Formats: sequence, structure tokens, C-alpha cells
Amino acid sequence: MLVFKTVRELQQFLSTVASNSIGFVPTMGALHQGHLSLIEKSQQQNKLTVCSVFVNPTQFNNKEDLLNYPRNVLADIHLLENLDCDNEEKRIVLFLPSENEIYPNKIEKSYDFGNLSLVMEAQHRPRHFDGVAMVIERFFDIIQPTKAYFGEKDFQQLAVVRNLVKQLNLSVQIIGCPIVREANNLAMSSRNERLTSDQKEQAAHIYKFLQIAKQQAKTLTVEQVKNNFVNSIKNIPALQLEYLEIANGNTLTSIENWEDTTYCVAFVAVFVGNVRLIDNVTLFNFRKSILGSI
Ligand code: PAF
Repeated sequence: MLVFKTVRELQQFLSTVASNSIGFVPTMGALHQGHLSLIEKSQQQNKLTVCSVFVNPTQFNNKEDLLNYPRNVLADIHLLENLDCDNEEKRIVLFLPSENEIYPNKIEKSYDFGNLSLVMEAQHRPRHFDGVAMVIERFFDIIQPTKAYFGEKDFQQLAVVRNLVKQLNLSVQIIGCPIVREANNLAMSSRNERLTSDQKEQAAHIYKFLQIAKQQAKTLTVEQVKNNFVNSIKNIPALQLEYLEIANGNTLTSIENWEDTTYCVAFVAVFVGNVRLIDNVTLFNFRKSILGSI
């Protein structure tokens, strides 16, 4: 597999390939099945997939979190090489830039994503989405991808990236891909590597309680569903809830009554020890079910 460490080398290579079939999968490494599902999707849709591995310092509001973020480039390369990476029809190349390559001018930018800049992850991780947007804008500028792939586990990030593309009037198509889960239904995340096997078992309650919320959304009020979720998490000593939001899946505005939206998603951030996990489940999406049945 070809590995590029500088923008110049990568762009030199990209100038030799068809520019209308470049898929891009940005990652921070510690690759798992969730990332691989994005890469495989890109391989199905593009002749070339650029996968980046870059632990982006500007999106971490907590120094310790940045230091503790799992890194294992050799294992990442090994996983990518198992994906038929040199097949001309679905080639993968790896972009492994240094901080200087990505931020040569060290200029900090700020963005306005409206409500997306105010709620949930934005509220609990100040400047997180400025950092995500900075790095994604830079990557898009370097790679000029046709399509870019993001997981729905980071639902708010996906919404922010779509908004960024609209604001900058870019032609890249953003593809959201479903959450991939462990056998016990814990959403796959690089951060799971930092959990003990007991913590992983306890963390499986997050999805279990989200599924219960989905069932209860059929009969109980929003407030009752929220209270039940909060109390269930309180009963598991290993878990500490940071937030639970039940919101409109398009605007991410919290709802008070089910009638407030036709597309409703429950979002959570939960600490397991000092590892912060996020997850989400669609409670209902009437528009999709109506369109799906036509
Ligand atoms: O989701 C991630 O891993 C990161 O936020 C991303 C999109 C690679 C940007 O650094």
C-alpha cells in the first residue's frame, strides 16, 4: 500500500489518477470494524480511496484525552493491507501527515454552525467542532475528494460536516454510514480500546437502555422516557451520564413532545471510568417509513 506523509507527495500522486472517483475516509487511527466499513463503502463507490490517519490536536478540548488517545499505526496499516488495497479498481492509499503538514500557519479558525455549534457535543467540548471543521476543510482542500465517508455514531459531527460543505459551497458528496456495533451492541469506537472487559460489559447497557427508550417512546411522554433512561444509568455504578438529549434528527433541537418532530433521535454521552463514549438511536423517523413504503 502506498503511504504518503507530505501534502506534496500525496498531491503529486493524486494528479495521476481520475479526479472524479476519489473517496476519502478521514480517521484518527486505532482503526476498527467501524472505520473498515467506511473504507469498504468507499471502495465500492470509488476507484481510489484515500484514508487519513491523523490525531487532530485542535479538536481535543482536554489535553489528557489527546495524550491518552489510542495510537497504533502499524496495526492500522496491517488492517488496510487486508482490504485488497492495491487492486486498481478499489485502491487504498494512506495519508499519514504530521501536524506541520496540516497546520503550516498555525491559524485557529472559528465557524458558526448555528444550533449545531451550541448543543450536546458542542456544549460539552468547547471548540471541538471548530477543530473538526478546520481539519476537514484542510483535508478537502488537499485531496479534493468526490465523496467523503463519516460514521453516524458521530451524528452531530456528520451534521456539522454537511453544514460546512454547504457553507463553503464544496462539490464533495458526504456519505453517512450506519453505526457498527460490537457483539454486545456497544457502538464501535477507538476509545473502546481503553476499556477493561468488565467496563465493556457495563457499557453495553447504554444501547440496551436506548432500545428501551425506543420502545417507551410509543407509550410514554418525552419526560418519562428521559427520566427512566437517567434512572437506569444511575443504577449502573460503572456508568456516569453526561447528557441525554431527545431531539429532532435534522436540526438537533431538543423536543418536549413527540409531535414536535417526525424524525426523532436520542443522543447520549456517558463516562465509563475516564473514557467518554457517545451513542445514538433513532426513536422514530416517520418520513423515512412513509417514503420507504411508497
Ligand atoms: O471522527 C473522527 O475520527 C474525527 O473527528 C475526524 C473526522 C477524523 C476528524 O479528525
